[in-house]
Amino acid sequence: MTSSANTMIDVQGVSRAFHTAGTTVHAVRDVSLEVARGEFLAIIGRSGSGKTTLLNLIAGLDKPDSGAVFVDGEDITKYGDREMTEFRRHTIGFVFQSFGLLPLLSAAENVELALRIAGAGLRDRGRRTDELLEQVGLTPRAGHRPYELSGGEQQRVAVARALANEPPLLIADEPTGELDSATGAQIFQLLRDVAASGVTVVTATHDPFVIEHVDRIVEMDDGALVSKPADEEPAPAAPGPARRALPPRRPPPGV
Ligand SMILES: Nc1ncnc2c1ncn2[C@@H]1O[C@H](COP(=O)(O)OP(=O)(O)OP(=O)(O)O)[C@@H](O)[C@H]1O
Ligand SMILES: [Mg+2]
Repeated sequence: MTSSANTMIDVQGVSRAFHTAGTTVHAVRDVSLEVARGEFLAIIGRSGSGKTTLLNLIAGLDKPDSGAVFVDGEDITKYGDREMTEFRRHTIGFVFQSFGLLPLLSAAENVELALRIAGAGLRDRGRRTDELLEQVGLTPRAGHRPYELSGGEQQRVAVARALANEPPLLIADEPTGELDSATGAQIFQLLRDVAASGVTVVTATHDPFVIEHVDRIVEMDDGALVSKPADEEPAPAAPGPARRALPPRRPPPGV
């Protein structure tokens, strides 16, 4: 079982290898990692070090060859298809490098669609869309389509959409990969605010500016974690990031 009620993610000795064209790539090797509720964690490491593979295992998009992945106290590697669908629908929000907005829908419609998929009723959808766009600072752009928005604004819409089902966990794989450094810093600040509201945020990034915004950084190298897991050392191994006190836990989602 997970070690404490304050633990959102508990990755226990997870490995994942890919076998392609006669070769085996050990993308994730015996990784153990704990992430607290409301923590903002960044996974860094060079290209091919296994960051996306690890995020996919945490998000239930892929299953490990060995080890366990507890999210919110449940071992998601044991989930069948139906439980996994429920898990993705209610527990996880995703933000990707390339935003992934639907081009013919406005910012508000992109968010509203996510609310519809999450099962929100018609009456709630308008109100929640307004709230979410306000949360990401995009109220004045609600009617704009993606091509009428800057990259940073599109990523804000993507964050609003990812939060539509009020997930306790937000996964962001290279969320600033297509943005300039100043805009990227604003997106990390937004994710910082999301974490401060009680959502656990895990991001994989090459962006050096992440250091200024996260609670903790872990580094991957050739599939393994370089820095120590959270339960072994209170301080991060990577230089720079000031450890912030974790914010109080957000009250449970109302929907
Ligand atoms: N579906 C797959 N099939 C075969 N090999 C894969 C697959 N997915 C990832 N790999 C390999 O696993 C290793 C880790 O890939 P991963 O995408 O996790 O790295 P990453 O750290 O996210 O890299 P980047 O910073 O470039 O996004 C790489 O060597 C990659 O080629
Ligand atoms: Mg990657």
